[in-house]
Amino acid sequence: MRLLVTGAAGFIGANFVHQSVREHPDVEVTVLDALTYAGDRASLAEVADRISFVEGDVADAELVGRLVAGSDAVVHFAAESHNDNSLADPSPFLRTNLLGTYALLEAVRAHDVRYHHISTDEVYGDLELDDPARFTEQTPYNPSSPYSSTKAGSDLLVRAWARSFGVRATISNCSNNYGPYQHVEKFIPRQITNLVDGVRPKLYGAGENVRDWIHVEDHNAAVWEILERGRVGETYLIGADGELSNRRVVELVLGAFGRPADDFDHVTDRAGHDLRYAIDSTKLREELGWAPRYTTFEDGLAATVDWYRAHEGWWRPRKAATEARYTASGQEVLSARP
Ligand code: NAD
Ligand code: TYD
Repeated sequence: MRLLVTGAAGFIGANFVHQSVREHPDVEVTVLDALTYAGDRASLAEVADRISFVEGDVADAELVGRLVAGSDAVVHFAAESHNDNSLADPSPFLRTNLLGTYALLEAVRAHDVRYHHISTDEVYGDLELDDPARFTEQTPYNPSSPYSSTKAGSDLLVRAWARSFGVRATISNCSNNYGPYQHVEKFIPRQITNLVDGVRPKLYGAGENVRDWIHVEDHNAAVWEILERGRVGETYLIGADGELSNRRVVELVLGAFGRPADDFDHVTDRAGHDLRYAIDSTKLREELGWAPRYTTFEDGLAATVDWYRAHEGWWRPRKAATEARYTASGQEVLSARP
């Protein structure tokens, strides 16, 4: 199979390509990535001689048309992916997430190429902390941020192209990922790398918000299942029953560094901050037999902390600029718990 993977110089896509080269050696991988601030060719260095890398924009219809014409399937990871950035400047989110997906859909339609669309559970909005319900494939879309609304819009484009034009598409909506090669702007790597630098972790608001964590390798194993055996036209939710409050995650990261559980700062909360995400992945598990391999967050987190300690050369070049962006956006340490 000739597989075009977009956005694979980023976190999840890079891990997907590593996994693909390791577990599907017959697959010919071509990566299309614009190398934005979030992309890093170093994340693909270990597999560089096993893949083709094209630097370019997913919204470039001519380039995308040419690459899709030479592919049997596309897995579309490329996106602007960080909520905080989408609040500071939504414009690249509209271009990449909406127009980029549109360009790919037109190309897969023209060349009748199988398409898998990577999306997020954030399209469903948020849940109350005590709500017994979790998101399912039937939950109505209700996104909160410029990021999640552009992801929701891209999902709807995929559904429309599947229904109106018969595009052979599947969609997956996954919960929060953690693992190697995640940008230091994101919650868990930010706190790990802060602690390496002797800086206290930064918790938004009171830290009660809940995220449903999944190890990136479990996400990508599910994507392979859907790509190979998923029903065309269907959406699959991916989650590993990993609900934890942000405060609990910070306590566990502090524990991994031998620091007291309350040795963190409360900082300015995110505008419109979603309270809780939670995934019911019954459909994926029952239909495709997928199950996560990382069943305890603590083990996955320990491996991730080890990875960041061992790969300072990978993350160090982006750390200072990332923290400067947070400061410029007005994020401040609060003197007391809000
Ligand atoms: P990331 O920000 O780490 O990587 C995004 C990659 O896309 C980067 O390499 C960047 O250079 C590339 N890119 C951005 N704009 C581009 C453009 N116009 N053309 C080509 N390449 C471009 O993101 P991630 O965390 O790896 O997320 C990947 C996908 O998974 C996204 O679609 C995201 O919405 C989805 N997702 C992420 C999570 C999560 O927890 N990180 C959870 C569920 C779904
Ligand atoms: P993030 O990694 O940005 O993912 P998402 O917004 O897609 O869920 O943030 C995860 C959670 O952690 C979210 O509730 C915001 C919170 N958070 C902090 O408390 N401190 C931080 O420094 C960051 C970056 C996020």
